[in-house]
Amino acid sequence: MGNCWSWNWSARVKAESPLHSVPASGLDSRSSSKDGVDPNSPPSGSVPPTPKSEGEILQSSNVKSFSFAELKAATRNFRPDSVLGEGGFGSVFKGWIDEHTFAPTKPGTGIVIAVKRHNQDGYQGHREWLAEVNYLGQLSHPNLVKLIGFCLEDEHRLLVYECMARGSLENHLFRRGSYFQPLSWMLRMKVAFGAAKGLAYLHCAETRIIYRDFKASNVLLDSNYNAKISDFGLAKDGPTGENTHVSTRVMGTYGYAAPEYLATGHLTTRSDVYSFGVVLLEMLSGRRALDKNRPTGEHNLVEWAKPYLSNKRKLFRVMDSRIEGQYSLKIAQKAAALALQCLSSEPKYRPSMKEVVEVLEQLQESKDAPRTFQPEPQSMPTRNGSSRPNGTVSYPRPSASPLYS
Ligand SMILES: Nc1ncnc2c1ncn2[C@@H]1O[C@H](COP(=O)(O)OP(=O)(O)OP(=O)(O)O)[C@@H](O)[C@H]1O
Ligand SMILES: [Mg+2]
Repeated sequence: MGNCWSWNWSARVKAESPLHSVPASGLDSRSSSKDGVDPNSPPSGSVPPTPKSEGEILQSSNVKSFSFAELKAATRNFRPDSVLGEGGFGSVFKGWIDEHTFAPTKPGTGIVIAVKRHNQDGYQGHREWLAEVNYLGQLSHPNLVKLIGFCLEDEHRLLVYECMARGSLENHLFRRGSYFQPLSWMLRMKVAFGAAKGLAYLHCAETRIIYRDFKASNVLLDSNYNAKISDFGLAKDGPTGENTHVSTRVMGTYGYAAPEYLATGHLTTRSDVYSFGVVLLEMLSGRRALDKNRPTGEHNLVEWAKPYLSNKRKLFRVMDSRIEGQYSLKIAQKAAALALQCLSSEPKYRPSMKEVVEVLEQLQESKDAPRTFQPEPQSMPTRNGSSRPNGTVSYPRPSASPLYS
C-alpha cells in the first residue's frame, strides 16, 4: 500500500493562491475551460494579471524545463502519426529522449515519453497546466504517472510524462478492435487495486489531496498493467483544521462526479471515492458511466446498475459478458458490494480509499480468482499511425468541464 510521506507543505500554497485570486472572466480565459474559480474570488479587474512565468513553479519540483524546440525534435515536429490520444486540453504525442541528458533522440533510442501539448492558451489552461506541474512534480508514487518535465515558452504549454505503454484504462474497457482485447477479470482487479492505491496515497494524512477527476481515461497502464493516475489539473488541497470540505465551483466529468458535490460544490475525499466506485462499476460491467446509445433507463450506469449490485441472482445482468467464467460468484459479489458502498448517496457511508485498498487486496489474493491468459499486443497503436487496428471505433469521449446539477 502506498505510504504517505511529508513534503514542504507551505510551498504548495504557491500553486494555488496566485491563481485563486483571479476570476475566470478576467484576462484571457477561454469559454470551454476545464476549471472554474472559487465562488469567493474577488470581482473582475480587482487584481493584477496573473504572472505566467517559471517563477510560479515550485522550486522543489523535481522536473526538467524543456525548450519548445527540444520537444518539437523529440516528437518529430508533433507528427500526427505519433498521437497517443486526445483530451479536453489537446493532443498527447509519443516522443524520444536520451535517458541521461534528456536531449531529443531518434525514435527507437533512449526512453519513450508522452508529450501533452495544450492547444488552449490563456488563463484557465495555464492554471491547470501549473496545477499539474506543481502537484505531480512534487509527488512520487508507483501508482501516479511520472512527470518528467514541462515546457513554458511564450504561449506554449507542454507536459512531458513517462509513456505508459498500454495507454488508458478507458481504451482497454471500451474500444473495440484487434489491439484492445477485453481485459481479463484478473487484470481488471489488478488495475482497480493499483488505481485505489494511488488515490489512497493522495488522500492520506500527510498528502491530503483531493483528485477530483477520477475516470477511466485518467488511469494509465504500463506494459505490466500497473495502473498509474494521471492529470492533476483539477486536483485540490483537502480541507485543513476543523473544516470538513473545500468549496469549489463544480468541475469534473459527467457520470463520475459525486451527487453531493454536484449539488453543493462541497468537495471531500469521499467525492473521489464515489468516482472510484463509478470506474469500478465500469470495470465490472464493461459499460461506460454515461451512454446515450443504450436503451432508455440504462443511459446512466450507476442508476441502472445499483439495484442489481446487491442481488445475488441478478448481479449477472451487470457483469461484463465478455469475461464470463473468469471469476466465482462469491468474488463478483464482493467486488459488486464494494462498488455499491463507494456509490452510497451519503458520503459518510462510503469507505475510505484505504479501506477500498484493503478489500481489493483480498480480492487479488483470493484463491477463487482463476488465472486467465491475456494476449500480448505488439505495440500501443497511435491514433493515426500504421499500427492502429482496422475497425477501431471512435466514440465521443467524456471530458472534464464545469458541471451543473
Ligand atoms: N503518459 C501517457 N502515456 C501514454 N498515453 C497517454 C499518456 N497520457 C495520456 N495518454 C493518452 O492520451 C489520451 C488523452 O489524455 P488527456 O489526459 O489529454 O485527456 P483525457 O484524460 O482523455 O480527457 P480529459 O482532457 O478530460 O482529462 C489518454 O486517454 C491516453 O490514451
Ligand atoms: Mg487525462
